[in-house]
Amino acid sequence: MQGMLLGDVFPNFEADSTFGQMKLHDFLGDSWGVLFSHPGDFTPVCTIELGRAAQLSPEFSKRNVKLMALSVDSLQEHHDWSKLVMSLHEPGSQFPFPIIADDRRELVEKLGMLDPEEKDRNGMPLSARCVFVIGPDKKLKLSILYPATTGRNFDEILRVIDSLQLTAHNRVATPVDWRPGNSVMVPPRIPETEAATLFPAGIYTKDLPSGKK
Ligand code: BEZ
Repeated sequence: MQGMLLGDVFPNFEADSTFGQMKLHDFLGDSWGVLFSHPGDFTPVCTIELGRAAQLSPEFSKRNVKLMALSVDSLQEHHDWSKLVMSLHEPGSQFPFPIIADDRRELVEKLGMLDPEEKDRNGMPLSARCVFVIGPDKKLKLSILYPATTGRNFDEILRVIDSLQLTAHNRVATPVDWRPGNSVMVPPRIPETEAATLFPAGIYTKDLPSGKK
């Protein structure tokens, strides 16, 4: 299965989740979305990742981003696991976002989220650590695919969302390791004369040995 390409409209799937039955586009409304999958509930890397995502959930909300987790485990396992995660991180609080139960493996197959190297006890491939960022127009804006054996960095996911949201509304590109407040770059397809009008505060140009600026 090829999975999703940037710019594809994300399928308006229906699924069972810890927040009840959900339909993706209705759940998102006008928000951005992050759908991230994990290999299995209760495993060490996944548990710490889920805790970190829950801890950062106010940062995602601030950016108008709704989080959704997913694995091929059952709804009951998701409920039990999310309670455990909250007892470790914020005792007494409700888990802040839905976890989708894809125990029939419909979504992981459709969206190309399986890790063929990691199998369950029946030899079936588990979900990899996929990250899909979906825009308010329901199109795929970014995807990152990690194998089960590599945990994610959720601060990086926030950083790329800051870049995606900035570049969705401004004709700029963000350079390596960019953080909000840092300088941005003029995309190469914008002619210099147009850039001068677009950025009246001024742009810094560096001449390079290649002759390109
Ligand atoms: C974990 O979450 O700890 C894990 C899951 C699958 C493979 C390796 C690690």
